[in-house]
Amino acid sequence: MIRKCLFPVAGYGTRFLPATKSMPKEMLPIVNKPLVQYGVEEAVSAGLNNVTFVTGRGKRSIADHFDISYELEHQISGTGKEQYLEGIRYLINNVNFSYTRQNNMLGLGHAILTGEPLIGDEAFGVVLADDLCVEEDGSDGVMAQMVKLYNQFRCSIVAIEEVPADEVNKYGIIAGESMVDGLYRVTDMVEKPNPEDAPSNLAIIGRYILTPDIFQKIRDTPPGRNGEVQITDALLQQAKEGCVLAYKFKGRRFDCGSIDGFVEATNYCYENIYKKK
Ligand code: UTP
Repeated sequence: MIRKCLFPVAGYGTRFLPATKSMPKEMLPIVNKPLVQYGVEEAVSAGLNNVTFVTGRGKRSIADHFDISYELEHQISGTGKEQYLEGIRYLINNVNFSYTRQNNMLGLGHAILTGEPLIGDEAFGVVLADDLCVEEDGSDGVMAQMVKLYNQFRCSIVAIEEVPADEVNKYGIIAGESMVDGLYRVTDMVEKPNPEDAPSNLAIIGRYILTPDIFQKIRDTPPGRNGEVQITDALLQQAKEGCVLAYKFKGRRFDCGSIDGFVEATNYCYENIYKKK
């Protein structure tokens, strides 16, 4: 059983400056809900009711968001506005939240390792909230799809998506042997390759299920580009010594860490979610 989900939210969000100067990127709203709440809802709908945030300086509003605001509750109690808080109240009442801080932003691998004391020796999900994933055609959320696969294969799984050749340099790119439709056994992984060096156009997006041996693999991984510890390098080691699967998920994903993706997600959610409520 997977019970825990890690949210690394310590990054600087430099692509969104000045908006992210004193406000976490993960609190940027898509219509009227912060990105991070979409991510937590996806984790909870996959049965991951223990949510751990790896936060950093200037990220306190995330913890406040997932806590009761007594003043606000008092203000709107008994009014028609209570409905706006239903979703977040559900999460506050049904999720165990825990927090730890990454003191130096040394990359995603390092952020995940920082969460080790709160995860312990069990497999766990990882959600990068700036990748917003929405269900389409009545399918499960991406994390729920991955949990089903984990229950079958019991190894680390990364979510992948085909990207245009000129965008491979923004992602971790995999090479893999096809197992069944949409599922690959990873044979190689390269972080942000030049298009001519990319082994495929299958890009890792911000959803992972990791087995706990990943922590030692991260510890053994020397820092790569910009002194950052990449999760891709640790995953490649896992793939070489055991098995890592790559899963082409069902649904739609928006790169909300970029301005274009953020605007696209906003328009999509306004038309397809907000207006249809
Ligand atoms: P990104 O590189 O997309 O986020 O990291 P960023 O660094 O915040 O954004 P830019 O590039 O400066 O605009 C992917 C995820 O990993 C987290 C980020 O918060 C984001 O959710 N992260 C990254 C950490 O928690 N710690 C790190 O040291 C690096």
